[in-house]
Amino acid sequence: MSQDAYRLTSPSGSEMELPVRKGTVGPDVIDISRLYKEQGVFTYDPGFVATGSCESAITFIDGEKGILMYRGYPVEQLAEHSSFIEVAYLLLNAELPTATELAEFDSTIRMHTMLNEGMLSFFKGFRYDAHPMAMLSAVVGSMSAYYHDEMDAANPVHRDIFAHRILAKLPTIAAAAYKLNVGQPFMYPRNDLNYCENLLHMLFAVPAEPYEVDPVAAEALDLLFILHADHEQNCSTSTVRMAGSSGANPYSAVAAGISALWGPAHGGANEAVLKMLDDIGDVSQIGKYVDKAKDRNDPFRLMGFGHRVYKNFDPRATLIREMCHKVMEKLGRKDTPMFDLARELERVALQDEYFIEKNLYPNVDFYSGLIYRALRIPTSMFTVMFALGRSVGWAAHWREMIADSNGKISRPRQLYTGPVARDYIAVDKR
Ligand code: CMC
Repeated sequence: MSQDAYRLTSPSGSEMELPVRKGTVGPDVIDISRLYKEQGVFTYDPGFVATGSCESAITFIDGEKGILMYRGYPVEQLAEHSSFIEVAYLLLNAELPTATELAEFDSTIRMHTMLNEGMLSFFKGFRYDAHPMAMLSAVVGSMSAYYHDEMDAANPVHRDIFAHRILAKLPTIAAAAYKLNVGQPFMYPRNDLNYCENLLHMLFAVPAEPYEVDPVAAEALDLLFILHADHEQNCSTSTVRMAGSSGANPYSAVAAGISALWGPAHGGANEAVLKMLDDIGDVSQIGKYVDKAKDRNDPFRLMGFGHRVYKNFDPRATLIREMCHKVMEKLGRKDTPMFDLARELERVALQDEYFIEKNLYPNVDFYSGLIYRALRIPTSMFTVMFALGRSVGWAAHWREMIADSNGKISRPRQLYTGPVARDYIAVDKR
């Protein structure tokens, strides 16, 4: 047996060598792609706990050490020195831009912020109280109808245009959804503003009076978007890759990713954290809720706690906690009691044997909602904010997947547990 292979012995005694593939960093991967052909068995791994679904050069996570890197750059360094637009360039193009490249990219994104005017009529069809994630998913899906002219997946220029449009237009769609919810007129984008300033303008400006963007709010959003920009093969990104692997229109694939993100086990957790903190209400109730989370017979979980990959700490949560503190201080928001409640809940949970034993730590969603709330962004928009940051990750992964010459349609197999073959019985004989 070569050193870089696992030997598999079947119950009948036949043997097979499974080659081991090595990444640049991280655990080795056993290549089982020939397993079914040669041994007639599948592997079984519900939830993909130990399965690498693809090869990727975009993002690396070490869950034990709390490491997150985009294209090799630690997220802490990017959070401190970079901007969301620069990080977006990095994720899409694999290298940090020169000053000229950055200026050109920034300008391109600004030039794509407007929507085809016809898309705005979509919003007239939604109920005033439609959830903004439902609207975001539907309207992004509709981009496959509006922007199909320049969407030949085999054309690298078209793939770039797709990425630029997704990144640039999602804030405009998100703001339009918000405006429908609050019954205010839609605000057109302002291309003299940067990415986050423009988003705040579209969310909070009204035609009747001037609006000045708060730089603290724009800075906080920029950090959140950097931290949400990518997270390797998470549920929504895998959904985008899977939908896209059939050759489906990439805007539809992103719409599928948005739907996956909405769930409370994924991006929907930031909304759920605030609801949970509202329910807890007071530090005196923390013990009761921690006990509920530990009770196997109670479906309640501490939202914003735990992660499939991070088993020590989530580096994003650490940075967001610091920013949360800064935002509360600078904006002098009266939400501080809720921040104090969150910090006390974190303290109690981190000392509890159950959470220690299961390696459950605050994740990216635990504090992000508190920042959004301090910025006056309503709870129903929290997951939309996550989607805006993650949109560049989805676009980068779709491009990587579609450009892979070894790419195949994603098509998992199963362990069938249904009835064995039986004969049809006529309805009068059943
Ligand atoms: N509160 C209480 N118990 C928990 C929690 C929690 N938040 N999370 C996990 N556990 C327990 C779980 O009951 C299980 O116990 P046991 O081994 O006795 O059955 C054990 O910890 C392992 O949990 P799991 O569900 O098997 O782990 P997973 O990797 O499948 O799930 C998770 C990860 C994030 C879905 C889960 O921790 C969770 O539901 N957390 C709350 C929701 C949340 O905050 N989601 C945001 C994730 S980060 C952002 C993102 O990815 O979008």
